[in-house]
Amino acid sequence: MGVKKNIAIILGDGVGPEVTSQAMRVLDTIAQYYHHEFAYTFALMGACAIDKTGDPLPQETIDICKSNDAILFGAIGDPKYDMDPLAKIRPEQGLLRLRKELGLYANIRPVMTYPSLQHLSTLKGDVLEGVDLVIYRELTGGIYFGKKTLNETGNIASDECIYESNEIERIAHLAYKHAQQRRKKLTLVDKSNVLETSRLWRKIVSDISTQYPEVETDFLYVDNAAIQIITNPKQFDVLLTENMFGDILSAEASVLAGSLGMLPSAAIGTGPALFEPIHGSYPKAAGKDIANPVGSILSAAMMLEYLGLEKEAKKIREAVSWTIQTGFVTKDIDPINFYFTSTIGEMVCDYILNRANETVHTENIQIRKSTII
Ligand code: IPM
Ligand code: MG
Repeated sequence: MGVKKNIAIILGDGVGPEVTSQAMRVLDTIAQYYHHEFAYTFALMGACAIDKTGDPLPQETIDICKSNDAILFGAIGDPKYDMDPLAKIRPEQGLLRLRKELGLYANIRPVMTYPSLQHLSTLKGDVLEGVDLVIYRELTGGIYFGKKTLNETGNIASDECIYESNEIERIAHLAYKHAQQRRKKLTLVDKSNVLETSRLWRKIVSDISTQYPEVETDFLYVDNAAIQIITNPKQFDVLLTENMFGDILSAEASVLAGSLGMLPSAAIGTGPALFEPIHGSYPKAAGKDIANPVGSILSAAMMLEYLGLEKEAKKIREAVSWTIQTGFVTKDIDPINFYFTSTIGEMVCDYILNRANETVHTENIQIRKSTII
């Protein structure tokens, strides 16, 4: 007997709609194969929401998100706002407000590497071997949400970084619990030699660490962590950090996976959780069918796991690994021999439906491949 799940879909801006469409196609294939039903309700957020309603996060979107089992989100941002530093309304405010409204305080960003992509990486193969880490990024506090000021003459600005102990405790417990099920190592990344908030993080995490004696706890300054992530990433298991450090370090860590387009994420809180690729809206690629859908497809897998559909999630991961191993990758991974966004989605679905062999032997798949000579 299958299950029915209600999923809010926020396509967002730039490449958001095209990558999310592939993730939905994969979800539909999973539904077909395992006899489940996924019912989608679409909601607006970001630049497209500003264009239609004047608000990057209309109330209707919040209501839809709250009344569904989970949320799948694409990407946010539009260059027309990036070029205007005085813009009062910005697409990103939609996502930040949604995270806050839904209490999505823990952002989980797993980083995996694929042996078959090592030769395409700017990093050396031995650095990439055996990397398996997960970043726990605090998502509703810190400098992102502190008071912001700009004086009247427009030449002095400030962003306050503020944390309360309970905001640190709740994500620390989640990160420790995950570490217990993994390789039992947790690294807190902070800047406690300079920042008061970091000293609070260090104190609270040290206190909590005694409740998880089997987990080894390490502390690392963020500047050092930035070096270690690309020179010796296999030392890490669970990385725990505050909002902005987590944003930057997870983007950096995506280099390990081959591209920013590869990484999924889950934002967990008190209500329904939200799943999104960690990449942005990549406006230059929008509408060209060249963006990498893997981050979005793997986000859908994380969503299924959260909804209790573990074997289905595993199947998606297996299918994605198969496409990558077989050489079906997008332009960000291989700028010479690449396949289109929609082709990757199709391949993942073919694998799920046990049609992978036909796919590989189908001659016309070559037509879907672009070769720059
Ligand atoms: C991310 C993004 C967002 C963030 C932006 C789009 C607001 O970079 O999810 O990593 O900074 O959190
Ligand atoms: Mg980011």
